[in-house]
Amino acid sequence: MLTKAASVGGLSVEHIQQLSPEIKQLTLFPSEMCNYRCSFCHIWGETGWALKEPQRVIREQLDINVLKSFLDDVTANTKKLGVIITGGEPMLYKHFTELVEHLRSKKANIYLLTNGSLIKNKVQFIMENIVAMNISIDGPEEFHDSIRGKGSFKTICENIDSLIAEKRKRNKMFPFINITMVLSKYNYRSAKDFMAALRERFKDANVVLHDSKNPWMKRRDLSVNFAPLLFTTQERGLAYAAQMKEHLDCDVSPAWQGFVEESLSTDFDTDILKQDLQDLWQAEGIDTSSFVDIQQYYADIDNVFGRTKCVAPWHEMVIRRTGDVYPCVDFPDYKYGNIYEQSFKELWEGDRAVKFRDYMKTSNLMVCNRCTRLFADKESF
Ligand SMILES: C[S@@+](CC[C@H](N)C(=O)[O-])C[C@H]1O[C@@H](n2cnc3c(N)ncnc32)[C@H](O)[C@@H]1O
Ligand code: SF4
Repeated sequence: MLTKAASVGGLSVEHIQQLSPEIKQLTLFPSEMCNYRCSFCHIWGETGWALKEPQRVIREQLDINVLKSFLDDVTANTKKLGVIITGGEPMLYKHFTELVEHLRSKKANIYLLTNGSLIKNKVQFIMENIVAMNISIDGPEEFHDSIRGKGSFKTICENIDSLIAEKRKRNKMFPFINITMVLSKYNYRSAKDFMAALRERFKDANVVLHDSKNPWMKRRDLSVNFAPLLFTTQERGLAYAAQMKEHLDCDVSPAWQGFVEESLSTDFDTDILKQDLQDLWQAEGIDTSSFVDIQQYYADIDNVFGRTKCVAPWHEMVIRRTGDVYPCVDFPDYKYGNIYEQSFKELWEGDRAVKFRDYMKTSNLMVCNRCTRLFADKESF
């Protein structure tokens, strides 16, 4: 399903004009190391940037003391903070548990995005500290393993077994366990069979398809979410680089190149995907009235389905492994500054943040068209 991340509707220019910055969400990439090399990944995949400099990525990890004191600074400035910990594989960060414990001591809600491979020895820890975790599974075993590596489906599923068992033992609702399958040219043919494959694998569990309209209606052990591929074209990427230079005096990193997909229209039979998803939604009783047309999503990158504005810079800040701070989650280009040198207020209210928000009030960036944040709802932050 193109879920909430791509439902129709949108945030108006007027809404943006009236916003005042209020931090609600931090996204942390404390390390960007990864033990997987997923084919479509914009970081470590075939076109990803990290493969070109793996040693540097392995070396660079956030200093935990600097990070902790910066987090103290952020939490002192907000009542309620959601923190997404991602990467690379976030559980490879050498101070992962210390970071999570510190955030919990500050009452932040923690959302973990993980490939699920390293959960085994941390089940108890996760139970006690994480609100929701998104575990990536990219289709039934054969498809998943061809993207994420042989044997990985089995490992991840065994880890999920342990989480479900522990939740039951403790009679706990949290953490919510959500499985995300990114629909790419490598696996779209398996979307229809995915639910059945998971129900077969998790025979005793209650597996539901995530319903963005009624997310909590159904009791579940596992929810499943189909996520659209985020992508751009070479032409748009180059136009983005020129736009950033001209309007924001910013030289962009190679990150956008990791999203380039030139041959989606030939590699992807979106007729099949559309029909399969419709069948699946119908069988699962999902209201699809607000979903975007998936064929257009993949075929016509100019169509943003009325989603004219992105509110992320008003509510979210992103910290990468170097301590650099950015407004955008996937494009470490326009930089507010660095947590080793500046306080939260200096970064969040500084000239660079103000300049970026001013620009974004009236313009979109050329790479925004297929970004989750552009499709996010007001409630997402
Ligand atoms: C970059 S990963 C980091 C967390 C963890 N390593 C994982 O695989 O879940 C976060 C999510 O981004 C997804 N992802 C990677 N490249 C993507 C792309 N080009 N479009 C959409 N999602 C992508 C992954 O499948 C995963 O669900
Ligand atoms: S596990 Fe996550 S970060 Fe690592 S290569 Fe796969 S999608 Fe990318």
